[in-house]
Amino acid sequence: MVSIDELRAKIEKDDEFSTMPHIASKVVRMVEDPNVTASDLEKIISMDQVLTAEVLKLANSPLYAPRMPIVSLKHAISYLGMANIRSVALMVAVRSLYSSKQYGDIMANFWKHAAASAIVARNLVLAVKGINLNAEEMFTLGLLHDFGKVVLLKFYPKEYREIVARVSSGETDFYQEEKKVFGVTHAQVGALVLSNWGFPIDVVNAVGTHHDEPETEMNALLTLVNIFCSSWDYSFVSPEFELKFFERALDVLKIDEDAWRKEAESIRELLEKSSEVLGV
Ligand SMILES: [Fe+2]
Ligand SMILES: [Fe+2]
Repeated sequence: MVSIDELRAKIEKDDEFSTMPHIASKVVRMVEDPNVTASDLEKIISMDQVLTAEVLKLANSPLYAPRMPIVSLKHAISYLGMANIRSVALMVAVRSLYSSKQYGDIMANFWKHAAASAIVARNLVLAVKGINLNAEEMFTLGLLHDFGKVVLLKFYPKEYREIVARVSSGETDFYQEEKKVFGVTHAQVGALVLSNWGFPIDVVNAVGTHHDEPETEMNALLTLVNIFCSSWDYSFVSPEFELKFFERALDVLKIDEDAWRKEAESIRELLEKSSEVLGV
């Protein structure tokens, strides 16, 4: 068993988890500053070649579907807008935390789930009328909701690999196994990291409670996102473990099943077209 204080101390000592990746925090801070202009942002992003290339790649991906190819950073920033640039910078920075090869394909699968969740969350908000959440904020929430798994895998690789194996075989889910093995869940751990990274309290709370019965719109959205991802194989978890709060989530979001089904197919197609973004 592990105590939450022990984990907090480990996270605070860890280079990757104690603070938000540098370039992302810089871009996030700039986007939130009303005095910053698009050309200031261009200057900062252009200093980082990887980020520049990724911004261009994402701007041209099916996710943002430009009518004409976008070839310059300036054009990408004006096309995507500040809020989207924030999502893109965060996505690029966070992806590097999933790049470790030493865990076989576990990290790659975690990334696939994170990126797919980001896309599903954002596009559900954009497509289903009546969801009163911000699409780009929900992109970030989807992207980071399971980040606690990355932390637990890094800190306790042996135990966590065994958990992944049991979850993959369909006999259990992460939440129940983590409670048994650690007494602490990836939801709690993820909330600790996001609070260190300076995310707003409602986002931190949504991550911390994302496997409980949903009471807020953010949690209900995450419930739907996980149902999508597990049904379509963007997750290690079998759908039966995600489905228990389906009705409740639709209730909280006040959407009916028809509206959901209508959008599901197009979001699924978008995911299939976004394989480059998903790294699959
Ligand atoms: Fe989760
Ligand atoms: Fe998840």
